[in-house]
Amino acid sequence: MSTQSTCRVCAGAVTEFVDLGTQPLSDAFREPGDTSEEFTYRLAVGSCADCAMVQLMEEVPRERMFHQDYPYLSQGSAVMREHFGALARRFLDTELAGEDPFVVELGCNDGTMLRTVARAGVRHLGVEPSGAVADLAAEAGVRVRKDFFEEPTALSIREQDGPADVVYAANTFCHIPYVGSILRGVVALLKPGGVFVFEDPYLGDIVAQTSFDQIYDEHFFLFSATSVDVMARRHGLELVDVERLPVHGGEVRYTLALPGARARSEAVVALLAEEEARGLHDRAVLDGFGDRIRAIRDDLLDLLRRLRAEGKRVVGYGATAKSATVTNLCGIGPDLVEFISDTTPAKQHRLAPGSRIPVLPPAAFADPYPDYALLFAWNHAEEIMAKETAFREAGGRWIRYVPDVHVV
Ligand code: SAM
Ligand code: TMP
Ligand code: ZN
Repeated sequence: MSTQSTCRVCAGAVTEFVDLGTQPLSDAFREPGDTSEEFTYRLAVGSCADCAMVQLMEEVPRERMFHQDYPYLSQGSAVMREHFGALARRFLDTELAGEDPFVVELGCNDGTMLRTVARAGVRHLGVEPSGAVADLAAEAGVRVRKDFFEEPTALSIREQDGPADVVYAANTFCHIPYVGSILRGVVALLKPGGVFVFEDPYLGDIVAQTSFDQIYDEHFFLFSATSVDVMARRHGLELVDVERLPVHGGEVRYTLALPGARARSEAVVALLAEEEARGLHDRAVLDGFGDRIRAIRDDLLDLLRRLRAEGKRVVGYGATAKSATVTNLCGIGPDLVEFISDTTPAKQHRLAPGSRIPVLPPAAFADPYPDYALLFAWNHAEEIMAKETAFREAGGRWIRYVPDVHVV
């Protein structure tokens, strides 16, 4: 077990600060009868002394995660559908308002963002390696290329479609360890005045809220303004804007541009200063994050064991990729959490990775309501609370574990 690895951004030395143990693939939901050995890896996080990038110590081969049966759907949350619709409309009014605009989205998934662009008749391309979700995008009228985006893909898109005004990626760029190839591809694909816009979970929020379940195989990087700024410069780009987003438990939308093309916004200066002032990348801060994770693990297990001893029924809500980190770190199985309710067809009637907790459609949640629901989809809390008022009225209570273990 090595506590050192090589930085995927700058080849510097990465030193580990959190070990979340042996973990399965976070989206590998299994058929109940499947007795084959489950793929596992060691989930640990470190930070690069040279460029400050926070990243996983071990990399999972991409084909194991993103394939025909990749189950995650962007359209699973009403809030996210609105979020992506609003962004598409903003792009159409700004970056895509010129002559014959063109936008490329990496990881377009089921086309939740691009369908608005497609309906507006604007040239676009979604690049999406996961077959079933890419098919959903195509069915929604989105032009999709089933492929991993990387430098050769970018060159071939440029040859076929010409340069892009916008390259966009939501919850995708942080999934990709091979940044050099991605950013060379972006530089080759952008028009001189074009932008690369991406949004991902923000290290600053993850540390502040101890949302350690944002750490799993697919989240290879935990970005901050500080680390993205260095990464951009190393790869011939500049960080020109940042925007904090409330979605998915706290994200930042970064805008990169070619050198000199755009002025750096006040927001970038302010976020860089804030990260510096709070010591976000300091060893002591990152070590403190690790200590708080262990406390949450112990508190959550204590609570679930106590509830079981009292004969209470506890059910999970949302078979998120995040939940794999929690259940497998804590050793939570069907003995403590009866099943997990989830709206995603490809997850239902399967077993959650590692924990083997059954995943059932939402109808099971109300039939009858459990005493407690463990909110794994805490990033969608507002939407879920608004929809599940009958559970509360029936006396049900929510268990939360971010930023600490509490019952509401
Ligand atoms: N953008 C959507 C959203 O925010 O809801 C989907 C995010 S999903 C967590 C990540 C997506 O990235 C998956 O659909 C996966 O197949 C895709 N992906 C992974 N590696 C990629 C690559 N190299 N190029 C393009 N897409 C990739
Ligand atoms: P995410 O946190 O990665 O977006 O995953 C959310 C998961 O929770 C996804 O599998 C869909 C599921 N979900 C529900 O079951 N009910 C809901 O109301 C919402 C918003 C999500
Ligand atoms: Zn580095």
